This record gives sequence, C-alpha cells and structure tokens, in this order.
Amino acid sequence: MIHRLQRGQVPPKPHTAFRPEGGDLAYEHCFTREGFNGAYTIFYHRKPPHWIASEEDLGPHPGAGEAFWDGALRRRHFLTGKVPSGGQVFLSRRLLLSNADVGVWVAHADADDETLVSNADADELVFVQSGSGRLESPLGILPFSAQDYVYVPRSLVHRWRVDGAVSLLVLEGRSWIDVPRQFRNASGQIRMDAPYSHRDFRAPDWPDGGPESLDAPRRLVTLRGGRLTAFELFHDPFDVVGWDGQVWPFAFPIRAFQPKTGLVHLPPTIHTTFAGGGFIVCSFVPRLVDYHENAVPCPYPHSSVDCDEIIFYVEGNFTSRKGVGPGSVSLHPTGLPHGPHPGTYEASIGTSRTEELAVMVDTLKPLAPTDQARVVEDEGYNRSWVRD
Ligand SMILES: [Fe+2]
Repeated sequence: MIHRLQRGQVPPKPHTAFRPEGGDLAYEHCFTREGFNGAYTIFYHRKPPHWIASEEDLGPHPGAGEAFWDGALRRRHFLTGKVPSGGQVFLSRRLLLSNADVGVWVAHADADDETLVSNADADELVFVQSGSGRLESPLGILPFSAQDYVYVPRSLVHRWRVDGAVSLLVLEGRSWIDVPRQFRNASGQIRMDAPYSHRDFRAPDWPDGGPESLDAPRRLVTLRGGRLTAFELFHDPFDVVGWDGQVWPFAFPIRAFQPKTGLVHLPPTIHTTFAGGGFIVCSFVPRLVDYHENAVPCPYPHSSVDCDEIIFYVEGNFTSRKGVGPGSVSLHPTGLPHGPHPGTYEASIGTSRTEELAVMVDTLKPLAPTDQARVVEDEGYNRSWVRD
C-alpha cells in the first residue's frame, strides 16, 4: 500500500451515481482491507462485477504438496532449479516451505495464465529470478522483469503473461504484506531515511481503451484454503472505466533498495524491505561493507532464537556459505546457531565490497518443508559444518 493513485474516470464523490460518457450507471466495487478499516481501492465497472454463470470445485492446488516433517533439527538447503518446470504461472508453482503465516513457492513457468486467477489466501510478494512479462488486472498492466519484486494484493483478479520462461519465488503473506510501518512518517509518506522512496515503486499502466481492451478471459480460478474454485463470470471483470485508492499491485526492483553499511557489521534486519504478519523480507544487494579498520564484514555467527531463516540466493559471491548458488534456498531453523562456513569469516577481513544479491525471509513460526522440497534437498548441507 504505497500511496493513493487514480486511473481512468471516477466520479467527484464516492458512492454517487456515475454514468461514464453519459451512458449506463456504473457499478462501484469497494475493495477493502482489514474489514473496512484498512487501505482500499474503489473500482468503477460497466457491469455488476459479482455475477457468475457457474462455479466448480477443482480440488487442491496441484502444487500445494504435503507437509513433510521428519522431526530432525537440521540446517537445510534446497535446489530450486530442480523444481519441475513448464506450465502456467499460477498453476505451475510448487509449495516448498510453509507455516501458518507464510508460504514459500517456486515457479518455473513458460506459459501465460489461461484463466484469470486470484489468491484469496494471501498477499503475494513475487521475486522474479529470471524472465519478464506483465501482470494484467482491472487496474491496468504492470510490466515486470528479472530482479523485480512484484506485489499482488490478496483476492485481486489478475493474470500473469510471460515473455517465454520465467523463474519466480512466490512468498505468500497469509495475513498481510506491506512496507514496514517504521518507514512511514506520521503523514503516511515513506520517510527520507527509508531504504527507498515512493518513486522506486512502479504502478500499473492504464492501457489505451482501458483494461477492458485486454480481452480478459471470463473464467476465474481462485485459491482459498489451498483449494481451487473456478467461476465462469457473467461479465468481464476488466470492464473498469476508472479506479482510485491505495490497494494496487506494484513492482519494486531489488536493486533500487538503498543498503546501509555501518562502521562495524549491522544485523541483517538493516536490510528489511517488506514486512508481513509473522515475517520480514530483507534484500541483500551489492554494497560497500563495514569500514572500521578491524571490521569483520562477514556475518557473525548468530542465534536468532525466535526465527527460522531462509535465504534465496540470486547472484554474486556469497561470502558466508559454500556450495550454494543461484536458485539455492537455505533454511536455518531456530534452535541452532548459524553463520559463515569455515574460512570465510577470516577471509572477509579487509574486503571493501560484496556483490551478493539475495532475498532473506525471517519467520517467527517454524517453517515445514513439503514433500516437493525434500526431493530437491541437498542432503549433504547439514554436514558442511562438521569438522574432523
Ligand atoms: Fe541469519
């Protein structure tokens, strides 16, 4: 929820009769968060947006998987590049890790969504590992490319269209995802000392002819409780002549994140980029490192005793971990201290830069791998700290 926007035509006052181009009465659709207490957007449809022709239970999402918990307390490493590839963006994603607050999915897709889709379980924060495309919705067209975060509000009807193959890390925030509150001033603006500004967030473009020109499918597949329900919509949900409000999908390039470096090493939370209910998302981007003459730039071993931590490695040199590469996801659970691999701590002394690019998620509740995660797990990772 970055700031208020307006696109297309809206009446001077909400909840009043509005006849676009002097024609039929438009239907207002109030899209609200936290009941009616939170951020909202108001759409103006040509036809009623809530009428359907039919509905159909499709069963569990094909990528939902089964929780697989062997009870072992161990550091884990998953090779997401081995997750099966191909298919539509929304349906080809595979859930790898989850708890009540957050789901971590990976998609290697190569086809547009054939239907409209919506996720009624969660806000989504999608990190684009590779590829490009656009997210189409009644709010307009949001282009994305590699190394963007793409935020999709819960229950927003949309479809992903791709320019060939894309690889995505999909984080589901099952209560909410937003800019951390500490980055706002009392007026709601993003503070000047935040690690980004309003200008870094890209909003949907309003197409010529409005979203109804996008020829959206009438079939909508909605995820709720891990199950899919299909609806044949009676009217085109993209028949929006205008909207205004603060709930909209956005793109944020990870390299727009402005990293902070200290005299000595700052904890990873200095890289906090987004927050959600029960978790935070941090961006590690190329940066100058700590500048005290005796600084140790490599992260110190730590026990963040209330959090599970995952890191999704994107590119660059990962100063603290050996054996991980682009597409790796490490899971370091609470209950175990974690830190750099042998040799890397000392080797970092005297360095001036790091080129790492990675996304970290700290969760307050433990993350359980699914059966789909176990088949792409690097079983040797836990032993990489064993010393003779
Ligand atoms: Fe950590």
